[in-house]
Amino acid sequence: MAFTIGIPRETADGETRVALIPDVAERLQQTMDGATVRVEDGAGRGAYHADADYEAAGCAVVDRDAVFDADLVAKVAPPSDDEVQLLADGQAYIGFLDPLNRPETAQALAERGVTSLAMELVPRISRAQKMDALSAMSSLGGYRATLRAAERLPKFFPLLTTAAGTIRPARVLVLGAGVAGLQAIATAKRLGAKVFGYDIREPTREEVESLGANFVELEVDIEADQDESGYAEKLEEEKQERQPELLKPHIAEADVVITTALIPGQPAPLLINENAVEAMDPGSVIVDLAAANGGNCAYTEADEAVTKHDVQILGPTNLPAEMPVHASQLYAKTIAAMVEEVVADGTVTPDFDDDIFAGACLTHDGDVRNERVRGLLGGDAPATEEET
Ligand code: NAI
Repeated sequence: MAFTIGIPRETADGETRVALIPDVAERLQQTMDGATVRVEDGAGRGAYHADADYEAAGCAVVDRDAVFDADLVAKVAPPSDDEVQLLADGQAYIGFLDPLNRPETAQALAERGVTSLAMELVPRISRAQKMDALSAMSSLGGYRATLRAAERLPKFFPLLTTAAGTIRPARVLVLGAGVAGLQAIATAKRLGAKVFGYDIREPTREEVESLGANFVELEVDIEADQDESGYAEKLEEEKQERQPELLKPHIAEADVVITTALIPGQPAPLLINENAVEAMDPGSVIVDLAAANGGNCAYTEADEAVTKHDVQILGPTNLPAEMPVHASQLYAKTIAAMVEEVVADGTVTPDFDDDIFAGACLTHDGDVRNERVRGLLGGDAPATEEET
């Protein structure tokens, strides 16, 4: 029987992306001989792909029940409780699952007997780069954050020499120079700002400087290790507490601060305290990309714009959804790569000897397979093949 891939319409508030775009769906059906992509009617609308575009690409445009009945369902946002209930034993699911913040979704998927793969858990090994949805989305977020700041700032970004006088370039400070931070830095440079970057991982210095920005040197060394995936390890308590005060003079001099500092599975570290906000010039802008994890700024409220001490503090949690065309294009590529990786001979083949499958697999055969998520659920950890 032919393998079917279901693409639902996203239902989360503000979600405009779609998990497969027509081009990518067409190619996937060709490479996976005999596979059919079923798309829920209207699924691509938010990303400017009409049902007719999917039909022209050889997809079947169907209703929600038929989509959730597919062998494999692929989505962008984690499934709602109702969506989990539409899945059944033996089906597979691929998408963002926010496993460390929503362990109960993992539990529910396991109870339904679904084999689920979380895009957040794809290991950062070179073979898996084409499946790195997190980096693809972070890059869009960093770009958009800078544009948002430029739009809000009551000043120019670039140096301007006019007959009426010279305008000095805006000073932009980016805290956290990972994928999102580096893209924010590159965008601010292109807009002509004077840009500064800071991170606790030493290798970022070179990356910041290679973009033509200045690396911020703290008066006292605060340097964290990175794990084998390149993620930062949590700072020791005492260092973490001193960081906001050490950063304060640099924040005070900035017109714009963009923060992106995250530690996987932990609340976002506090980098901008109330005093630092007060020390900024009136009209300055903070864009906090860590808002979904509690924020890097003391005043951040997720998905709100608040003004404190005349400083505007924005906490957008889904900037990629503001660029649904390219966000969906890139996301679809990572989904297609993942589908090709895990489907063989018309079925999802659980291969726990494969680093990618073992890393990304959140639930299988009634169990939550990821050790950290099992820990969060507080249940007995069943022995898994990846641990043996
Ligand atoms: P992320 O989104 O988890 O964190 C963003 C940044 O915040 C990181 O650079 C981190 O060091 C920094 N940070 C954490 N705590 C901080 C603190 N207290 N103060 C200042 N900065 C802090 O990380 P992201 O952007 O997803 O990836 C980080 C790095 O991982 C990348 O720069 C890259 O080197 C590596 N990477 C490797 C990949 C691969 O091998 N396939 C793919 C993608 C990224």
